[in-house]
Parts: sequence; C-alpha cells; structure tokens
Amino acid sequence: MARTTLHSQSSRLAAVQTPVIPVVGRWIAETPGTISLGQGVVSYGPPPEAIEAARRFGYALTDHRYGPVEGLPALVEAIEGKLAQENSIRVRGSSRVVVTAGGNLAFVNAILAVTDPGDEVILPAPYYFNHEMAIVIAGGRAVAVPTLRDYQLDVQAIADAITPRTRAVVTVSPNNPTGAMYSAESLRAVNALCGDRGLFHIHDEAYEYFTYDGVADFSPGAIDGASAHTISLYSLSKAYGLASWRIGYMVIPETLWDAVNKIQDTLLICPPAVSQHAAIAALQIGRPYTSAHLPELDGLRRLIFEALGAPDVPCDVPPAGGAFYYLVRVHSTLDPLVLTERLIRNHQVAVIPGSAFGDTAGCSIRISYGALRPESVAEGVGRLVSGLRAEVSL
Ligand SMILES: Cc1ncc(COP(=O)(O)O)c(C=O)c1O
Repeated sequence: MARTTLHSQSSRLAAVQTPVIPVVGRWIAETPGTISLGQGVVSYGPPPEAIEAARRFGYALTDHRYGPVEGLPALVEAIEGKLAQENSIRVRGSSRVVVTAGGNLAFVNAILAVTDPGDEVILPAPYYFNHEMAIVIAGGRAVAVPTLRDYQLDVQAIADAITPRTRAVVTVSPNNPTGAMYSAESLRAVNALCGDRGLFHIHDEAYEYFTYDGVADFSPGAIDGASAHTISLYSLSKAYGLASWRIGYMVIPETLWDAVNKIQDTLLICPPAVSQHAAIAALQIGRPYTSAHLPELDGLRRLIFEALGAPDVPCDVPPAGGAFYYLVRVHSTLDPLVLTERLIRNHQVAVIPGSAFGDTAGCSIRISYGALRPESVAEGVGRLVSGLRAEVSL
C-alpha cells in the first residue's frame, strides 16, 4: 500500500530565521585560533556562594519534587525586595513576579499570554533576534520599526506603526544588539502610548546593571499607573554569570497571571529547583557582584570605540552607553553574513552579522566585549581593524 508522505515542518516555523550563533560557531570551530567577539556572554562565572548553595541542594526529598509554577517562595520574595529597592517596582496588589527559565522564556510567556495568531507586536529595530523568533513561533507578526541614527527609539514611528492588530510594543534597554541606553523620557513616552492605546509594554532589562558614564537604568514598570499594562523582564544570566542555569523572572499585571500560569505550567511546570537555590544566594550578594566587573568592561568599551573610530577604519561606531555591545556600521555593500565569514576565515576574528538582528539597511556587525579577558579583546579588535581595512577595500 502506498504510504502517505509525512508532512514537513509547520509553515510557521519555516518562516522563523535560523539561529545565527551556531553558524558562526561552526566557522569558528573550522578556524582554530579565532578570537570571538561574537556571543553575548560575560567572562566571569557565578558567585562562589551560588555554587555553594547548589552543593547543599539535593539532600531533602522535596528538592526533587515539582515546585510552584511561579517559583520558590523564598526566591520570589528576594526578587520582590530587589525590585522595590532597585527598580522602584512595587509588586503585589496589581502585579506579580514569575520566575522563569531565563529571560527568553519570560518573553515567550509574555507573547503567548497577550497575542492571538495574526496579532502584531512592534519591535524597534535592530532587535534581539530571539524576540522576533518568539513572535513568529507564536503565530504573530513582528513589526520592525527602525530606530534613529544613534539607535535611540523613534517614538513617533512606533505610534505610526500601531494598527488594530497591535498588541504590544517591546523595548530593550540597555540594548542588545546596539548597546544603546534608551532615555527615560522615550521609555516614558512609549509606556504612555501603550497605556493610551490599550497595548502592553514589554520591557527587557536583562542588562540593567551594565551601564556606563554614570547613566542609570530606567524601569518603565516603576511609572505611576504603569503596572496594569507593563511586563518587565529580567535575567540572572549576565549579571551573575549564570547563563546555563536558566533563571530569569518577569513582573506581570495580575490580570495576566491565569494565562502565564497555564503557559508556564505547560512549557516548564516549574523553574529548575537547584538553579533557584543558586539564584537566591546570588541575589543575596546582589548588584555589587556585577559592579565589580564594570570598570574592566568600561575600559574595553572605550578601547573598542577608539580603535574602530580611527579615521582610516571603514566604519561608523554609534556610541553605546550600556550592555557590552557595539553595532558597527561598515562602509561596505557586502552582505554582513559574508563579511562575518571572511573576518573569521581570513582574519580569525568573529562577530555577529547585523542582519540577524533585523538590521537590513546596510552592512552592520555586532561586537560583543563581555566574554574575553582584556588582552584577548585588544588582540581581537586589532584583527578586526585590519580585517575591515582588508575586506572592505577589496
Ligand atoms: C535582550 C536579551 N534578553 C534576554 C536574553 C536571554 O537571557 P536568558 O539567558 O535569561 O534567557 C538575552 C541574551 O542574550 C538578551 O540579550
């Protein structure tokens, strides 16, 4: 009997971009000695206290059972204290905290909770690729709205992009991939716009501690009257060097709890308990753990700006006051993916093509300086400068 052909993958998924990091990772593996200014991770590991907490885990039978969907009460309480003290966000009453398996799952929870298939979500571009991917996976439409020349928000363009199908506007500050810190004024404007137009404002603060030049991070969730329409996302991956432990959290309006409860109960059941215990210990150390690394990161930030800003390097470097990224505009008509491959294979330095972040207008590349020791960054930037000179003049 003839067999019916197996259906291929869902057409929704066929429309999702292929993750670029593994592609770049393969080129790096094929080019020994490459210095990676690619993946957005930090150079340091977690606080020893977090590792110690993990070591103490597992002796009680309850350690091995499912826990609450929204996270262990002790962790939720620690997060609430941190939010009140550092972000001026008062949880309880109109909003609540949900611990997630990293900021990425928090975003997926948010999108599934507020959209139906076909709905639109506005992403200022360049955007963090997993945000766009999550929206498409959920059956939504990611509406990219260009930022200004300095990668700041274009609030008028965001307002103009709103349609009857729009459900949310996403902002990320400090930003990945640009390193931009959005002004408090523009974040207030977006938040007010969302409130007025009946939209959710989803704000990602994964890099909240990574700010320079004395500029403080601003949390739109703290604005009076914002809690009913604001979803704030956080991560322990960067701040505490806990990327593989998969702990993040979200602050959601109380009205979304039923929806998020259903989603997280299905996708995760509960955040991994051992990681939650490590997270409690990390939060007890708190912000100073990250702050201790900032002078070194700031030094690298300045070094890169000066090296790539030299007049004979064929690129523009918009200033970046946060995170650990630059999104550099290269004076070239090359496809940025092609340029990335050439930089790796011919010059042994890796970057991420701007096209992965929806920056399709020209040839841009993202440089990450979080993961390397200063000596390697200096050497990597030297290779990048000579690589750009060589590849762009060809
Ligand atoms: C803006 C932004 N949000 C979220 C994440 C994901 O963080 P997590 O490891 O907590 O899922 C990243 C990671 O690069 C990021 O850049």
